[in-house]
Amino acid sequence: MNRKYRKTVIAGNWKMNMLASEIKPFIEQLKENMPKTRACDVVLCTPAVMIPAMIKAGKECKVAAGGQDVSKFEKGAYTGEVSASQLADIGAKYCIVGHSERRQYHGEDDMLVNAKAKALLAKGINPIICVGESLEQREMDLTMEYVAYQVKAALNGIDATQLRRCIIAYEPIWAIGTGKTATAEQAQEVCEGIRAVVRKIYGARPARAVSILYGGSMNAKNAYELLAQPDIDGGLIGGASLKPADFATIIAATNQE
Ligand code: 13P
Repeated sequence: MNRKYRKTVIAGNWKMNMLASEIKPFIEQLKENMPKTRACDVVLCTPAVMIPAMIKAGKECKVAAGGQDVSKFEKGAYTGEVSASQLADIGAKYCIVGHSERRQYHGEDDMLVNAKAKALLAKGINPIICVGESLEQREMDLTMEYVAYQVKAALNGIDATQLRRCIIAYEPIWAIGTGKTATAEQAQEVCEGIRAVVRKIYGARPARAVSILYGGSMNAKNAYELLAQPDIDGGLIGGASLKPADFATIIAATNQE
């Protein structure tokens, strides 16, 4: 983390878990376990139907609500899709785009991720743009080339002012839901590389200001060490964000000097 130059963000990705009725008790437990003062923004990205309940429950302890996906279209005959205006209208502040599960199960490519990020920015929602390599790519030593390509494609046509609203999340696919975390060194190396890519496109200042999160089996035990890395500005947390005490411990880990 580097709080002097950029925001620390702890974001939970609930994926397709939990019910709206479970949100209030979850937030109450989170509040009990969370430090009174904290050095980060906290957001929970829920299925779209649960965003209003999250906003309501999260208000008093400053937990923002986010979506997990958005349509690239503004409106129209796209059955099942949710637009950026609809997310903004119900009060979502953030939205994940390009999660590897969307890429894998829904065939999303980098151009689509770029279009979705732009759709969110146009409606004032902060995109959390996910990138990350597969195990095969890592073993072939293609990690940085591949991640750099994903970052460049996702940010194509986004100007420096809009970049200030973007968060990039590095999530190595092999570490997601596997219990296999990237080492702090591995995660730092790629996050530093991502910042270098941003620097090349936008220059030193915007690169210094962009928050880059790590995601992939981040938990109450390993969060402190990961967050101690200079280019890791927070986490995008799946499994551990479903357990209020664990999520609170991760939030507390941002209070380190
Ligand atoms: P896990 O923390 O369960 O590995 O999930 C990470 C993730 O995909 C967050 O978007």
